[in-house]
Parts: sequence; structure tokens; C-alpha cells
Amino acid sequence: MSVWALLVAAGRGERLGLDQPKAFAKLGEDPLLAEPLRRLDESEWIDRIVIVAPAGWEEPAILLAEELACSKVHSCVAGGATRSESVRAGLAEVPGDALVVLVHDAARPLVTEEVIGRVLQPLSEGWDGAVPGLRVSDTLKLVADDGSVIDTVSRDGLYAVQTPQAFLADVFRRAATGEATDCAGLVEAAGGRVKVVEGDTRLLKVTTADDLAKIASWL
Ligand code: CTP
Ligand code: MG
Repeated sequence: MSVWALLVAAGRGERLGLDQPKAFAKLGEDPLLAEPLRRLDESEWIDRIVIVAPAGWEEPAILLAEELACSKVHSCVAGGATRSESVRAGLAEVPGDALVVLVHDAARPLVTEEVIGRVLQPLSEGWDGAVPGLRVSDTLKLVADDGSVIDTVSRDGLYAVQTPQAFLADVFRRAATGEATDCAGLVEAAGGRVKVVEGDTRLLKVTTADDLAKIASWL
């Protein structure tokens, strides 16, 4: 089966607050984008990669792929105003005979071979998609704007969901029309069956400078 990875890196990184987009923030010596790109390129599971870069940053992204001697990068396209639009821009590059599309946030640099395997497995067992998730362990409270607690919410069955997320390409193409905070949300809204598999705490998403420092310390 041919597995196409979309590496979405087109966000502005407003909460990180640097001059350049988050994907080009430094993680150690290299831009953040280098780490997930190298890992996807080295993965036994992945056949081709489409990079979705911030508009105007396609060339630096391609140069980075060349520097890293990546052999699977098919193309690099500019993303859109929302994550869903960026995903659609990447999806437009995926040929009709692709079997599986795996979408990964460049902001989660520490993607592993194990978690890629875990999200691909359910696709051969009748599922339309699979996503990594971590059971929520903190107590959850519904809070008003002034900080007052409205309610304590049950965390039974609640998971925090990460990427990489894998989908049957046909199902995903049909579903990827609206807006959702993750790709699975698009597939769920279209009636698709999505399975949650075990996530990884190291798939932490870089949102703030603290996250970047934490991930650098793990490397
Ligand atoms: N993303 C994207 N296109 C967008 C928005 C987000 O490709 N229009 C990507 C980001 O590059 C990131 C992932 O989606 O890899 C998750 O988004 P997020 O962590 O919110 O990143 P940013 O949108 O860049 O950060 P912020 O919300 O702080 O601006
Ligand atoms: Mg964002």
C-alpha cells in the first residue's frame, strides 16, 4: 500500500511569537521542521512526503529537505489560513492511487516509527482512520470567564489527541471539505469510523518557548 505523509508546517506560530514561522524556529542547531521531516523520511512505513510550508517559505523548506538528503519528498506547497486549508493544499498533491494519507504536525517533532505503525494498523482492520491519544489524567473543570468554577467534568473516556493521524485516502479526500481542529474531526463529521490508539507523551506539540526548550532537552 502506498502511504503519503502530509507534513503540515504552515502555521504562523503566533503563541511562540518569533520573527519567523514556528517551523523555522531553532530546535538545537536546526529549524524545528528538520526533526519531523528527517523522521518521516527515515520511516519504513512512509512512501512519499508532501511538505506544507508557510507561503513564501517553500524554497527554504525544499533546501532543508535537500540538506538533510531526504529521498521521499514529492513536493512542497504553500498552506492556507487555517490548518484544514493547509491540509487540503497538501492533499491536492496526493495522486489518486495513494491508499493511505498520514497527516502530521511539524510542531510535534518527536514522531516515532512505533506511533506511525500504531496508527496504520487499524486501516487494515476495517477502520477509516486512526489517531494517537492520551487518556486525560488531570481533573477537568468548566470555568467561567471570571475564573469561577461552573462544574467539575467527568474525565471518563476522555482522550487528548495528537498526530500523526492516518486515514484511507479515498475516505479522507471526501471528508476534507470543512473545518475542524484536527483531521479526524473532518472524517468523523463525514460519518467515518476513527479509532484512538496509544499516543506518546513525547509527541508534545510546540506551542510556547517552554515547549521548545523541553523538547530540546529530550533530544
Ligand atoms: N498549521 C498549518 N496551517 C495553518 C495553521 C496551522 O499548517 N494555517 C500547522 C502548524 O504549522 C502546526 C500544526 O498545524 O504544525 C498545529 O498548529 P499550531 O500548533 O496551532 O501551530 P500555529 O498555528 O503555527 O501556532 P499558533 O496557533 O500559535 O499561531
Ligand atoms: Mg494555530
